Amino acid sequence: MSILNILLYPHPVLRSKCKPVETFDTELHQLLDNMVETMYVANGVGLAAPQIGVELQVTVIDTGDEEVGLLELVNPTIVEHSGELQAGEEGCLSFPEIYAPVERYPSVRVEAYNRKGELFSVEGDELLAVALQHEIDHLHGKLFIDYVNRFRQNQIRKQMKKRYGKKELFWTPSN
Ligand code: NI
Repeated sequence: MSILNILLYPHPVLRSKCKPVETFDTELHQLLDNMVETMYVANGVGLAAPQIGVELQVTVIDTGDEEVGLLELVNPTIVEHSGELQAGEEGCLSFPEIYAPVERYPSVRVEAYNRKGELFSVEGDELLAVALQHEIDHLHGKLFIDYVNRFRQNQIRKQMKKRYGKKELFWTPSN
């Protein structure tokens, strides 16, 4: 397994509309293994393939809930949501140390394929619901910054530019 570089906003790949996975082969398994390791080392709750430069509908999530454990989601879709939109502070590994309030549904049901190509369904509330919506957005080129007001968007853009403007648009998590 290896730790992958995580792309930083505004890297253009973060805006890609990712392709669905068609073959559930060892290449996919390796991608998932590397994404899981990278997410844990980066202390993230989720990581989506475009964040490591791969334009495929693949994401991994672990909110720390032991009952749910690690989720590997291939070609995920939100099939149901319930409750009223709720604002909560959100962050993203492509925007290190930046947080902003985003409105999300408090409960969602997602259908996805596992690494073997078997369809499964997962229901998430609270943090898991937020993570599922956030990560699935990534697969369609949508970022949490898109939900915040113009003023805060500009602030975040400036913060990112100030911090990373003169460097390459990625970072390498380490233990
Ligand atoms: Ni993110």
